[in-house]
Amino acid sequence: MKKKEFRKRRKNLLKELDQGVAIINTNPHLNRNRDCQFPFRPDSDFYYLTGFPEPEAVAVLIPEREEGEFVLFCRPRDPLRETWDGRRAGPEGACRNFDADQAFDIGELDQRMPELLRNRQRIYYGIGKQSEFDSRVMSWVNELRGQARAGVQTPSEFITLDHLLHEHRLFKSAAEIDTMRTAGKITAAAHVRAMQSCKPGMMEYQLEAEIHHEFMRNGARWPAYNSIVGSGANSCILHYTENDQKLRNGDLVLIDAGAEFDFYAADITRTFPVNGRFSGPQRAIYDLVLEAQFAAIEAVVPNNHWNQPHEAAQRVIVEGLIDLGILHGSYDEQLESGDFKRFFMHRTGHWLGMDVHDVGDYKIDDVWRQLEPGMVTTVEPGIYIAAGSEGVDESWWDIGVRIEDDAVVTAEGCEIITGDVPKQADDIEALMRG
Ligand code: GLY
Ligand code: MN
Ligand code: MN
Repeated sequence: MKKKEFRKRRKNLLKELDQGVAIINTNPHLNRNRDCQFPFRPDSDFYYLTGFPEPEAVAVLIPEREEGEFVLFCRPRDPLRETWDGRRAGPEGACRNFDADQAFDIGELDQRMPELLRNRQRIYYGIGKQSEFDSRVMSWVNELRGQARAGVQTPSEFITLDHLLHEHRLFKSAAEIDTMRTAGKITAAAHVRAMQSCKPGMMEYQLEAEIHHEFMRNGARWPAYNSIVGSGANSCILHYTENDQKLRNGDLVLIDAGAEFDFYAADITRTFPVNGRFSGPQRAIYDLVLEAQFAAIEAVVPNNHWNQPHEAAQRVIVEGLIDLGILHGSYDEQLESGDFKRFFMHRTGHWLGMDVHDVGDYKIDDVWRQLEPGMVTTVEPGIYIAAGSEGVDESWWDIGVRIEDDAVVTAEGCEIITGDVPKQADDIEALMRG
C-alpha cells in the first residue's frame, strides 16, 4: 500500500476528531512457547492508519496541532538488539519513512502523553481491549487533572474509536480492492493446486502444505487465519484445524483457507471428493449448496440489506433439504422451529478486509444495514450432516459442504474476486482428472 493511502486514511479520521485526540496502540508480540514468538502481525486498526509494522508502538492523532497532527511512539534504534532481533525504524525512521510529524522513543510515552492530551475535550481509543493500557490512559488524564488549578483543561469524554474507524475500514478504496483481488487470485490458485494434488491416502496436512506453498511462493507469507482441511467426518466440524487425518477414498474434503496479502485477507472454501468423483448423495448436497450460493450472490446488490443474501441461501437450502427428505414439514414450519439449523448453523457471510472477520456494523439502529459499493463480504452457505444425525439416512452422514467466495459490492451488483477456482461439480471433477 502506498504512503499516500495511509495519509488519506489519517486525514479522513482527523477530520472527524473535532476537539479530540485519537490514541491507537498496536498489539503485543506474543510468545508461542518459552522464548519462541509467534510471527508479529500488527493490529489492523493501527496498521490501517500508520503502515508501521513493528511491535511496541503507539500512534496519536491530534487535529490542528501546530507541531504536527501525527505523532508516533516506537522502539528506539539499538544496534545490539537489531543484530539479534532485526531492524527497527526508530523515531527518525518513523518520520522519514512513515510520515510521522513527530516521533519519540516508546519509553517516553508516559512522560509525553499528558502534554499531548492537554486542553483537548475528548479521547478516542479502543477502550477495554488491553486493560494495562486502559490504566495508563487514565493515569495520563489524572496527571492533567492535577494541573487543573494552573488552568489546564482535561479531556472529559472517552469515546471508543472503534465505531468511527471501523466505518472507514468497512468501505474499501480502489487500492484496497486491488490488493484484495490479488489475495483472491493467490488463494484461488492455492485451492486449484490442492484439488490437483489430492489423492486418497494423503494426510490432510499434506493438502494444507500445498495450499501454504502456493500462498507463500506468490508473496502471501501467512494465511489470513488457520487453514481448515477437514475430510470425511471432519468436514462437519466448522472450525476444524487439526488437519491430521488420512484422506479416505470415497470421502469429501472441505478446505477453508485464505491468503493474507499485504495485510488483506481472502477467504475461500471449496469442497471436493478425495478421489475426484462425487458420489450420488455428495453430489446432491453439493449442488444444493452451490445453488444456495448463487442465490445469495445474486442478492449481493446495493440497497439490498445485509441479511438478504443469507435469507436467499436459507430458502434454497431448507427447501432443498425438504425435497431430499432430510428435513420435514414446510419451509415456514422449518423457519419457525429452526430445526434446519442442525445442518446449516452459521450465517452466509461476514465483512472481509484486513481481518478475515472484518470490522463494521451489520445493523444500524437495530435494522440490517444496506449494502453499498465498496463493502466486501464473503458468501458462504453450507450443509453439514454429521454421522448420527437423527432421522437422517446413513447414506447422508459425514457429508459437510461449504462453498465460499468473496464479493465486492459494486454500483450494479457485485464482483466475485475469488472466481479463479472452479466450483461447478463437473468442473472440479474435470480439473481433478486432468
Ligand atoms: N474462514 C472462516 C470463515 O469462513 O468465516
Ligand atoms: Mn468466511
Ligand atoms: Mn472461510
